[in-house]
Amino acid sequence: MSRYRVALIGTGGIVGSHLEAIAALQDRVELVAAVDQNAARVEAVCAQAGIPHAYTDAAAMLDAEQPDLVHILTPPATHFPLIVAALDAGAWVWSEKPFCRSLAEFDAITAAEERTGRFASTVFQWRFGSAVEHLRGLAAAGALGRPLVGVCQTLWYRDAGYYAVDWRGTFATETGGPTATLGIHLMDLFLWLWGEWEEVRAMAATLDRPIEVEDVSMALVRFASGALGSIVNSALSPRQESYLRLDYQRATAEVKTLYRYTNKDWTFTPVAGDAELAAAWNALAVDRMGSHGAQLAALLDSMDRGVRPLVSGLEARRIVEFIASLYKSAFTGQPVRRGSITPGDPYYSTMNGEVSIERG
Ligand SMILES: NC(=O)c1ccc[n+]([C@@H]2O[C@H](COP(=O)([O-])OP(=O)(O)OC[C@H]3O[C@@H](n4cnc5c(N)ncnc54)[C@H](O)[C@@H]3O)[C@@H](O)[C@H]2O)c1
Repeated sequence: MSRYRVALIGTGGIVGSHLEAIAALQDRVELVAAVDQNAARVEAVCAQAGIPHAYTDAAAMLDAEQPDLVHILTPPATHFPLIVAALDAGAWVWSEKPFCRSLAEFDAITAAEERTGRFASTVFQWRFGSAVEHLRGLAAAGALGRPLVGVCQTLWYRDAGYYAVDWRGTFATETGGPTATLGIHLMDLFLWLWGEWEEVRAMAATLDRPIEVEDVSMALVRFASGALGSIVNSALSPRQESYLRLDYQRATAEVKTLYRYTNKDWTFTPVAGDAELAAAWNALAVDRMGSHGAQLAALLDSMDRGVRPLVSGLEARRIVEFIASLYKSAFTGQPVRRGSITPGDPYYSTMNGEVSIERG
């Protein structure tokens, strides 16, 4: 089978993770071009990574190269128009998080998928580690009992310099603060593992950074199963940690890490004396990191089969709706139920409920 022709749009901070993922899958993909508005940056990345064609304009690249797959690594406000342009050019898309700025943009991407017959997927690399796959398997087999109590904490530190970058710190350009850009990874994992959520109650504040968006949010979530979860998303925490704790009836599963995990970052504690369940967890033989490379391999599998990739469609819409609902709850002081934000609701078109925001 011939290799997929892949192009990158955006060659800033996150490009290294994508180059690493592509390099590990060279038998399946061929990196044909990269684009960045910053000519010096894209030329330097192309020279360093051996990418044959550098462009400063995405439309020109799509027209000339006709790639099979486009990775979008630009700032959040630019994702939506670039995703639609890549779909319309006949490519599949893998866009960095946050996928888009609103449910309205998400639903327009879905319409573009239907129009073009191509799929647009977003980066949530944490779904693809072996420990998570194993946990999902045990849960699906009924070995863990019902999910009951969850703790989902993204306690990171981002200083004023981080927020001085032009596209950070506003809803129009970044889509939100640590809720929408940092905690999004762990919240997506939490919501995916525990099934549909039903209601969220939240608070958000801007305590210590000179930004429009929040620098901390806290939320309580109730799942359709009845389980309850507690969520913290912080950009203010000097000892940084990502912590997810999942208490099921028969075991607690926890991961403590920062940006990536392997099996050893997970702790599994069965209820006292359940040696059989402990052995089932310890039977985990492979150790695959939840990384861009693991997700790209799965995406290429979907392309081979011509089927919707895991983190797209309703599987990607869930976190966009949850974040819009978390902000709506925080800014209105009211609980928000899943499914209640529909066209016409201000939180359908923007994350902060503004009727219109300037494009970044
Ligand atoms: N998955 C993860 O773990 C992870 C980690 C970090 C960043 N990200 C995400 O990756 C994205 C990029 O972040 P970054 O830190 O690399 O940003 P960055 O500012 O370092 O780089 C963005 C690049 O995009 C270029 N650019 C902007 N608009 C463009 C356009 N229309 N066409 C072509 N190039 C354009 C800029 O010149 C810049 O070089 C963000 O959405 C961010 O949230 C994801």
